[in-house]
Amino acid sequence: MSPSSTAILSPPLPTPWPRFASPLKLGVMASGKGSNLEAIATAIQQGHLQAQIQVVIYNNPGAGVRTRAAQLGFPTVLLNHRHYPSREALDRAIVDTLQAHRVDWVIMAGWMRRVTPVLIDAFPRQVLNIHPSLLPSFPGVRAVEQALAAGVKVSGCTVHQVELVVDSGPVVMQAAVPVWPDDTPEILQARIQVQEHRIYPAAIALAAEAASQPSTRPSNGGQLTVDG
Ligand code: GAR
Repeated sequence: MSPSSTAILSPPLPTPWPRFASPLKLGVMASGKGSNLEAIATAIQQGHLQAQIQVVIYNNPGAGVRTRAAQLGFPTVLLNHRHYPSREALDRAIVDTLQAHRVDWVIMAGWMRRVTPVLIDAFPRQVLNIHPSLLPSFPGVRAVEQALAAGVKVSGCTVHQVELVVDSGPVVMQAAVPVWPDDTPEILQARIQVQEHRIYPAAIALAAEAASQPSTRPSNGGQLTVDG
């Protein structure tokens, strides 16, 4: 197989996508450029993910996500962590903002801050995160660099429910990509992000579907199929 192959292991997308009594009300938290925000917005616009983005919270004044969110017409709120005396104080401001915008599901899309019980307890099992590795491998910062340094041959991305330990919690969906010998962090990150953008909207829908039917599990969130 050539290094340029796009072979992946990726879960099927919902067919049909779940429908809810009313659109899911999402609050997105982001620190970076906002490509996952855009992917979620696209899935909504296409009628796949039945949701609406109530607010986008960002913590870095120069973050590209602010511009993307504004272009997409979403309200943005800057909560700069440098201006809060503790993680709990920041999370209190985040919770207040999310509740003021009537958010049901908290979507961490490149949020690079640890969270506290203040946030998690306000939205039990309704805080989701995406991480650029096959958790539980390589949690924390620079996950793609960690994977390359370890010499893994397969990496990927994970959407999971957020618990207190960084990048931990029940997995909702994963997708895997090959790692090639000449990969740089940028090349591997780009390959992983194609999968992030594919699975995050679906994972939100499946998590919400599972939450609305407490006795069932997401119908296909755990299954990997070969997609060459
Ligand atoms: C994504 O690759 C996401 O997995 C990662 O930040 C990037 C944000 O990209 N998140 C983490 O590392 C969380 N531990 P984006 O701003 O283009 O959506």
